[in-house]
Amino acid sequence: MFAAEGLEMEFPKSFTWGAASSAYQIEGAAAADGKGPSVWDAFCTKPGAIFEKHHGNVACDHYHHMAQDVAMMSALGLRAYRFSISWPRVLPLGVGAINEKGLSFYDRLVDELLDNDIEPWVTLFHWDFPQELYLKGGWLNRASVEWFGEYATAVASRLGDRVKNWITINEPQIFLGLGHHTGTHAPGLKLAMRDVLLAGHHVLMAHGKAVQAIRAATPTPVRIGWAPCGKVDAPSTNGIADVEAAFRSTMSVTQKDCWNNTWWADPVCLGMYPEDGVTLFGTDVPKVKGGDMELMKQPLDFYGLNIYSCGRVKAGKNGQPETVPNPPGTAQTSFRWPITPECLYWGSKFVNERYRLPIVITENGMSNLDWVMSDGKVHDPQRIDYTRRHLIELSRAITDGVDVRGYFHWSIMDNFEWAEGYRERFGLVHVDYATLERTPKDSAYWYGDVIRTNGKSLLSHGGTNGSVDASHRPFAVEELA
Ligand code: FCB
Repeated sequence: MFAAEGLEMEFPKSFTWGAASSAYQIEGAAAADGKGPSVWDAFCTKPGAIFEKHHGNVACDHYHHMAQDVAMMSALGLRAYRFSISWPRVLPLGVGAINEKGLSFYDRLVDELLDNDIEPWVTLFHWDFPQELYLKGGWLNRASVEWFGEYATAVASRLGDRVKNWITINEPQIFLGLGHHTGTHAPGLKLAMRDVLLAGHHVLMAHGKAVQAIRAATPTPVRIGWAPCGKVDAPSTNGIADVEAAFRSTMSVTQKDCWNNTWWADPVCLGMYPEDGVTLFGTDVPKVKGGDMELMKQPLDFYGLNIYSCGRVKAGKNGQPETVPNPPGTAQTSFRWPITPECLYWGSKFVNERYRLPIVITENGMSNLDWVMSDGKVHDPQRIDYTRRHLIELSRAITDGVDVRGYFHWSIMDNFEWAEGYRERFGLVHVDYATLERTPKDSAYWYGDVIRTNGKSLLSHGGTNGSVDASHRPFAVEELA
C-alpha cells in the first residue's frame, strides 16, 4: 500500500528539477536549413515500421516554435531542460562540413534557456544517427568512434562555454537492442548477437571519446554523464535475502540480448566487461584491442538513469533470484507498462551502490490517454499520481543516503514515440499535431508546484482528485496560443 503520511520530503537544496525531450521526437524540420537525413528519417519510410505510417517530419515542429516552447517551460517553472542534438542537423554527412544554420539553432536554444534561468542539459546522441554514416557501416564500423568524437568536438566547442551538463549517449540498450537486434527501431537491423556486441563495443568507445572531446573543448569544468536504461528488479520484500537477490538480478547478464545494465555500465564505470556476460556470450564477445577498455572508462560526474518501471524478484533456491509476477490487475500506463514506483528507489540505490556515482534520473514518466477536454483543459490525474509516487520513492532513496542530484520528467511535451508514432502521449504539455497547439496538462501545473516547493507539495495529494487549483496556474492556457 502507498502512504506518504509521516514522510518528510527531502530533496537537497541544489536538486535539479527538469523535463526532457529528444531531437527527432519533437523538432520536425526534417530537411530544413541543410539538415542531413538520419536513420530515423529513413526508417519511418519503411512500410509497416511505424504505427499508422507516422514520422517525425513535423512532429511538434519545435524547430520553429523554440522560443514559444522555452517561454512555456519558464512559465511552468522548469529549472532545467534536457534536450538532444540532432547529429545530422549539425553535420549533414555525419563528419566534415558543419551546417552553420543547424548548429546555430542549438546555440539560440541554449541562450534562450539561459535567458529564462533554465539550465540546459545536452544529450549528444539520442538515436538519430546520420544516414550517410550508416551507409558506411554505422556503429559496426570502428571508425564510428572517431566520427562521434568529431561531432562531440564540434558541438562542445560551440556550446561548451554555456552548457555545463552533458550526456553522451542515450540508452545503448534500446538503440542496439531494438535498432540492431530485433529490428523494431531504426535502422531496423536484425543482426546476430556477435555483431550487435561489436556495434556496442564501438558505442562504448565512442562514449569515452566524447567525454574526452567535451572536456578538451570546454573552457571551464563541466559535468558529464550518460543515460542508459536497463532492467531494474525490486525485491518482493525488504528482507535481506530478497534485497540481495534483487541486486544480483539487476546487476547480471542472464540472457543473450541487450536488456541488462552491467554489459554496458561495467566497461564505462569499471573498465571491463562483466564476467557472467563474457561467459554467456562466449565467442560472440568482441575482440578487445589495447586501449579500448581504457577509452570506455572515463571519469564521469554523474550516472543518468532512465527508469519507468521495474520487475520484482525474491530469493529462491540457494538465494537465486526468482521472478515474482505482478498480481492480475496491476496498475498500468496506456503503454501497458506496470506502475511500480519503487523502481526509482531500488534503481538509484543499486546503481549508486555498484558504481559509486551521483545519480540523476534523466527520464521517468508515463504515457496516458490524454485529450483536451470540453472545458479546454487536459486533466491527467493518472500522470500526477504516477509522478508523485515515483518522486516519493526517490526522496526515500535520498533519505537513505543515495546521492541523487536531479530528476527529469519524460517528457516536456507529447511527441513522436518511435515505433508507436504519436499513439503514446508522455507529455506534461499536450500537443495537437494538426494545429501544433500546446496545452499544458494539469500535471504540468502540478509539477510546477513540486518544483517551486522543492518537493514539499508532494506531501499533499494535490490534483489526483481532478482538481488542480487554477490559482496555481502561472499563466492562462490562452496566453500560449
Ligand atoms: C525512452 C527513450 C525516450 C522515450 C521514452 C518513453 O526509452 O529514451 O526517447 O521514448 O523511453
